[in-house]
Formats: sequence, C-alpha cells, structure tokens
Amino acid sequence: AAPIRYQAETATISQGVVESNHAGFTGTGFVNADNVTGSYVQWSVPVGTAGTATLSFRFANGTTANRPADITVNGTLVSDELSFGGTGAWSTWQTRVITVQLAAGTNTIRATSTTAAGMANLDALDVDTAPAPVRGTP
Ligand code: GCU
Repeated sequence: AAPIRYQAETATISQGVVESNHAGFTGTGFVNADNVTGSYVQWSVPVGTAGTATLSFRFANGTTANRPADITVNGTLVSDELSFGGTGAWSTWQTRVITVQLAAGTNTIRATSTTAAGMANLDALDVDTAPAPVRGTP
C-alpha cells in the first residue's frame, strides 16, 4: 500500500526546534533535535488493524558522524541506537527503514537521541502498514 506520511514538524517535540533553513524537506520544515541525549520526536500513528509496518524515517545528517536514535513503539524499544549516518549535507535527505509491529488503534512512535550530539535532522516518518500486493497468475 502507499505509505502515509507523518511530518516531524507537526509531531510532539521534546527538546528540539522546527527549522526550514536546509532545502529538500517535505511539508513546512524539519525538526532539529537539540544536541543532547534524550531529545525526541514523537508521532501518533493510528492504524486500523494490528500487524507489520514499515517505518521510513526521512533524515539529513551533514556531519560525518553517526547520530543514533532509540526507536520505541508504544513505549517498547524496537530499535536500539538505530544508526543515522552522514548524508553528505544537511540538505541531502535519505531514509532509514525498519520493520515493526503496530497495534490496532493509535500507536506512539518515538525517536530519541542517544548521544550528546543529538539526532539527525528529521523531516518525516512514512508508515506503510500493508504488505505489497502479489500478482497472481492470470
Ligand atoms: C547545524 C545545522 C543544523 C543541525 C546542527 C547539528 O547547526 O544547521 O540543522 O541540526 O548543525 O549539528 O545538529
């Protein structure tokens, strides 16, 4: 199915600011999480049925250092220090993809800085809940 995009700038932000000074973002901006451990962006993601989902974090990291983040779903750690490596420039955006299980109802998905350098800049989270359709024999 087509993924649904949840912007970072409209998510819940703890210790971070919405900025738009690096080109290439979608929506109205991106989140520059403070460069401290514990800064986070949290999305509310409603889904109709429990199941596997692909999460694609759209990010930019203009440094050459990894900017890892812990990813939790409904309070459970699902990706420990997920790497967000350098993208070459703050205006060069890439996606970091993981697969998780989501519950029926509203899911709380949080990305939290695990180092004093903070996170990469985050543009959006794309959530794809349905498996790709399989073409049958005609
Ligand atoms: C620069 C850049 C920010 C980025 C920050 C950082 O200030 O302009 O967008 O978030 O570096 O290193 O976190």
